[in-house]
Amino acid sequence: MIPAKLSTRRRLQTSATILTAALSSAAFAQSEPWRPLYHFTPAKNWMNDPNGMVYHDGEWHLFYQYNPFGDKWGHMSWGHAVSRDLLRWEHLPLALPEENGIMIFSGSAVMDEKNTSGFGKDGQPPIIAIYTAHTEKNQSQSLAFSIDRGRTWTKFSGNPVLDIGEKDFRDPKVIWHEPTKRWIMTVAWPMPRKVRFYASPDLKKWTHLSDFGPAGSVSGIWECPDLFPLAVEGEAGVQKWVLIVNVGSGAPATGSGGQYFIGDFDGTTFKTESLTADKEEGTVLADFEGADYGEWKATGNCFGTAPAHGVLGGQQSVEGFRGKGLVNTFLNGDNTKGTLTSPPFAVTKEWLNFLIGGGHKPGKACVNLRVGDKIVRTATGRATELLHPEAWSVKEWRGQQAVIEIVDDITGDWGHINADHFTLADSPARGTGTAAWLDYGPDFYAGVTWSGAPDGRRILLGWMSNWQYANDVPTSPWRSAMSVPRELSLRRTPEGLHLVQRPVKEFDSMQTSASVMFTGTRTIAGLALAKPAAAGNTLDITTALTPDAAGNCELEVLADGTAATTIGVNTTTGVLYVDRTRSGRADFHPRFATRIEAPLHIAPHGEVKLRILVDACSVEVFADGGVTTLTALVLPPPGAKSVRITAAERVNEFKMRVLKGRNP
Ligand code: FRU
Repeated sequence: MIPAKLSTRRRLQTSATILTAALSSAAFAQSEPWRPLYHFTPAKNWMNDPNGMVYHDGEWHLFYQYNPFGDKWGHMSWGHAVSRDLLRWEHLPLALPEENGIMIFSGSAVMDEKNTSGFGKDGQPPIIAIYTAHTEKNQSQSLAFSIDRGRTWTKFSGNPVLDIGEKDFRDPKVIWHEPTKRWIMTVAWPMPRKVRFYASPDLKKWTHLSDFGPAGSVSGIWECPDLFPLAVEGEAGVQKWVLIVNVGSGAPATGSGGQYFIGDFDGTTFKTESLTADKEEGTVLADFEGADYGEWKATGNCFGTAPAHGVLGGQQSVEGFRGKGLVNTFLNGDNTKGTLTSPPFAVTKEWLNFLIGGGHKPGKACVNLRVGDKIVRTATGRATELLHPEAWSVKEWRGQQAVIEIVDDITGDWGHINADHFTLADSPARGTGTAAWLDYGPDFYAGVTWSGAPDGRRILLGWMSNWQYANDVPTSPWRSAMSVPRELSLRRTPEGLHLVQRPVKEFDSMQTSASVMFTGTRTIAGLALAKPAAAGNTLDITTALTPDAAGNCELEVLADGTAATTIGVNTTTGVLYVDRTRSGRADFHPRFATRIEAPLHIAPHGEVKLRILVDACSVEVFADGGVTTLTALVLPPPGAKSVRITAAERVNEFKMRVLKGRNP
């Protein structure tokens, strides 16, 4: 944790009010307009990260970072709830309280079936919680166990079990690794932007195996990692390893967010394909290793006279380029602009491969291929400084002359582009699984998965907030909700492997008070779809839309005459967005009233399919079949409940369930 962040939290903790009101459901409805229906919230007080998620004996356990004494961060302890269906939660007493000046920071839990720890009793295997014991000067890993289905907990007398004498060393996630028959701990070493792997036979003695990082997004501190195997959809027997690393700042919507790497874990080391340079060679058009740009012509002020050598002043770590030099338009920050144009070259092969990173600003910060007076191909970065390989099929222009343009025509956040190593080749640069974002929205943090889920399921849960404003979100007497639990899988696309998220299937059985449903084509032209009876602020929408001539599909949810949250896709620019500038309360933080964008990874090809979950204070959008998700908090005015499609050529499918029934 950045010291500044800690000290802010500590300040807040001293001024925290102790709230004791226990409100009935009826009272919630009137006095708590933003209390979600189906997203987990604490009955009262502050919550952050999900912790210790483990499935045992028909129960999904959810522990969470909790302040028993106030509605701001402080006195960190583990709160506890259980559910039989991942939807309805029963609150249980505080599981692990702060004690003797030691706060209980984030961590995980496992069922120790074989009683390797020896904490089991009378044939009853223990559930073991592995958490970070936090003091001002030190963070170390400690254990607690329960032999009564998580109802009561005992802290291990031999704590801590792993202490490397560091002030920041936290958030252990433990798994059983069957091939090597031992426990593996993945734990964050925040400041050097690393995760460390350790092994243990009994959860008590830990041996250091290896480190991973820095890699991917490194501007923010690394926290809350997770490591797990996952099958690739439709490829029998193919399994990869996913490493999740949450970052305290520098995520695409600014502030905190989560990234993931796909690779292999051999029981000792995690390797990701994305970080090994592409081997495809071909004819090099430009590698930017020289002392100037050679025959490429620069205009504007963002290129200088020579290629950059990695990071430019004030920039996050730039990775994934080849050799020493690259084109990097962050010269003097994001406010400079210009175009760098290659000399004309003959298209002699089928593929044009290159590396690209930086902003996702289609048409504004991009690399273009121009044949004659037409731009025939264009690409952008993915709002990360990590360059990824891009491969353009250029077969149809074989024998013709073309030029490459590197364009930076935009200022402000992510208003720059990184590019390197342009080659003409016989095959595409190999697809990658570069560090990707778990969610492009501002409000999905500390996402980690359940341990021991049945039927090989892998289920992710995130905290629906952002450290930028988490302490100030104006809800009361509770603060913060979790995301909907999300089932994970891996999907191979032409771009490489992607993590896919969808709401857990249990969610389909939520009670519904009304539904609007039609399939078949309708032309809508501004049609208000939802009749008042079908409107609501607790919705599950599945829709397939054909964009209008400009490539737009757009919906409004949580709308009244004035306020609305807008969700849309532009297929021309390949962007998914949620606009919360008119969504309701936003005065508590300058970064809240924003329009948030995500790049769509799979070209939507005409039809746009979206699944949108709306609850009293949130929208979660699943696009690209679950490859791209965007989660955002919103605080609509009471009564803002209508749904309207505001742009699209046709509505091909629209199903909307208005959900009812309440969490405890
Ligand atoms: C992430 C985090 C963790 C830490 C916890 C403390 O949000 O900073 O790294 O364990 O919160 O509440």
